[in-house]
Amino acid sequence: MILKIKTSADVPSSEITPESVYHSRRDFMKVGAAGAAGLAAAAAFGGVNAPLFAQANPYAAPLNPKFTVDPAVDKLNTYEQITSFNNFYEFGTDKSDPMRYASRMKVVPWTVDVDGLCNKPGKYDVEKLVDFKQLEERVYRHRCVEGWSMVMPWVGVPIKSVLDKLQPQAKAKYVEFHTLLRPGEMFGQKTGVLQWPYVEGLRMDEAMHPLAFMVVGLYGKVLPNQNGAPLRIHIPWKYGFKSGKSIVRIRFTETMPRNTWAVQTPSEYGFWANVNPEVDHPRWSQARETRLPSLLRNRPTLLFNGYADQVQSLYAGMDKKVLFY
Ligand code: MTE
Repeated sequence: MILKIKTSADVPSSEITPESVYHSRRDFMKVGAAGAAGLAAAAAFGGVNAPLFAQANPYAAPLNPKFTVDPAVDKLNTYEQITSFNNFYEFGTDKSDPMRYASRMKVVPWTVDVDGLCNKPGKYDVEKLVDFKQLEERVYRHRCVEGWSMVMPWVGVPIKSVLDKLQPQAKAKYVEFHTLLRPGEMFGQKTGVLQWPYVEGLRMDEAMHPLAFMVVGLYGKVLPNQNGAPLRIHIPWKYGFKSGKSIVRIRFTETMPRNTWAVQTPSEYGFWANVNPEVDHPRWSQARETRLPSLLRNRPTLLFNGYADQVQSLYAGMDKKVLFY
């Protein structure tokens, strides 16, 4: 399938599905009317790229019911909330900076360099790494180490499906994800606020875990630049800084990656960064969190962000303090 990746700039705000319509569309799609949904989505895309999407809007992917939340407990945040309150220091440190400035980042074309301990190194177009015919939607809780959280309907594929194509070698114990380095478009990279490029990493079994997700879309649309277009990871049981954005390099290594925040402030951040209400940040408690848009610490933090039953076996025997750093 030849697929032109749209950018969020190609999607007029009139095409962003309002939440009410979105929820009824989800119910509609859940009953399996995928063909009809595809036609509706193609009509919704319209515009100059319409012929390329004649079959369907690939981002209007079916919800995977194994990876969702109880809407009575975890209400979806709105598209507006998810795209206007962001951490993406490449575009500034204020939460509204990414929304203002991330459109300066060119995301087409987009290639990813693959190197290190794998049998298929090289330069890959994003369409070669991610199978756009296999996209699925997952609703995940997202918990930032700063204490706020949201609930997002991401669209993507398991990270495992991408890494399998690259054939990691047995010696590869970790995988790194590097963000785009382009100071001309990302003015934050002209400052020393962090070491650039932003690097994150996972142990191989974490990256291969069914929950670990490679994201290309949000709310049934292409991923907005401020959320890490065109390719970011989301690791829902870890603090948000583990979920690197706008990935241009995947590297397999034998040694533990030196991730950006651990390099920047090793006394406060580490490699593991697993959500745990009992392990406080050195400067604040992690016992409770602020579920946006509320401004109150209105709910208890959950062990592994509520995914403990699925992931705690990865860390058998490891100390909870170690699992923070
Ligand atoms: N990735 C890059 N490249 N640069 C960043 O500053 N911030 C991280 C993470 N990934 C960050 C990044 C942090 S601290 C969080 S909480 C999440 O992105 C925020 O993701 P969101 O803006 O989509 O909610």
